[in-house]
Amino acid sequence: MNIPLHIEQHLRQMAATEATLNCYLYDTTSMREKIVYLNNIMPAGVEVFYAMKANPHPAFLLAARSAGAKGIEIASLGEAEKAVVAGFNGDQLIYTGPGKSPEELRWGVSHGIRTIHIESLTEAHRLNAICSDMGRKQDILLRINADFDIHEAQTTFSGGSKKFGIDEEKLAEILPQLLALGHLRFRGLHVYAASGVLNVNDLLKNCELVFGMARQIELDHPGTRCDTIDFGGGFGVDYLEEGHDFDPQAYADGLSALITQYGFGGRTFFLELGRYLAADSGWFCTEVLDIKDSRGKKQVICAGGINHFRRPAALAINHPLAIIRMGRKALFPTQEQVCDEAVYFGGPLCTGADKLANNVFLHAVDVGDIAVFGLAGAYGLTMSNLEFLSHERPQEIVLS
Ligand SMILES: Cc1ncc(COP(=O)(O)O)c(C=O)c1O
Repeated sequence: MNIPLHIEQHLRQMAATEATLNCYLYDTTSMREKIVYLNNIMPAGVEVFYAMKANPHPAFLLAARSAGAKGIEIASLGEAEKAVVAGFNGDQLIYTGPGKSPEELRWGVSHGIRTIHIESLTEAHRLNAICSDMGRKQDILLRINADFDIHEAQTTFSGGSKKFGIDEEKLAEILPQLLALGHLRFRGLHVYAASGVLNVNDLLKNCELVFGMARQIELDHPGTRCDTIDFGGGFGVDYLEEGHDFDPQAYADGLSALITQYGFGGRTFFLELGRYLAADSGWFCTEVLDIKDSRGKKQVICAGGINHFRRPAALAINHPLAIIRMGRKALFPTQEQVCDEAVYFGGPLCTGADKLANNVFLHAVDVGDIAVFGLAGAYGLTMSNLEFLSHERPQEIVLS
């Protein structure tokens, strides 16, 4: 990974102070450019939402708003409130996720939220009762757990037994019950296959499946129309530095062909993207505090571990990593160094699970250098074990 010059310069300035360096640096330029690009290339009817679970920092919400994202995909009341503070209105929010509480549903209805995505029949009844109490009708999408999974994806959201949505096979039994709930306005389907997908055809296959389901529903239930279809998120990024991210242009072309094939022009299609938009707008930067040789393997200990950057350990993958060499004087003559070898990176936590990088080959690392983990803008601090060992929170510094 090449560290952008302005990121390195900023880190060097910070490192000139006495304080131990441990922070996230954000530059949302790339996120804003990607939103503009997607809005330009996607077929008519596609609306790009930012899935704020990837990074709820206000700078990312502001980037989404200023670059022209249609709105925010939220999955909790906390996210809803942050989106509102960032300037989004209720009708720019779509609400997904299993286990929405009555308070959360009530908030959604009272704020005129655009769509609430129903994850089960219980949730449908709960929402219907709330709407009835409030004298309101709510637009909903029905989330389906399709009988399809993308094996190579980092995380799958459909296929097999899942907590997400209603199993595809149960649709014929459940849909009539849902359509009978008088305070819910059925608008269409939500089928999200997987996250971190690099193969465009895998996600297009999901689109085709959903189109097939929508067509079948309309045949089986005359008068019912799926005018909105949500494909979820899933566009992947190149964590392994193999030279290719997900290809949005190929996806746009494929989706456009499917829309024509199914005669689905004039409908609305949601994309709720997190990782693809946010990942390359953030770097986790942490100072090397110690290097040890343990039975022939070097263990590099950094100021922050999975309390601040849990994703590599949680998903057992290495993020791109580069070292800023600081040239600090050794504390004693035989202090360990890394020199052309594969090493392990961890943090200061008292658990063997505290791994930042596994068996990663590096030319040189010394105590006092700064380890910079790339693609950390998505699912970085937000999915970390912040409270564990009560270390100070890393700073989040926004450069642009
Ligand atoms: C419902 C929903 N939408 C969107 C996303 C964002 O997915 P991604 O970051 O892969 O784009 C997620 C991620 O878990 C999700 O659960």
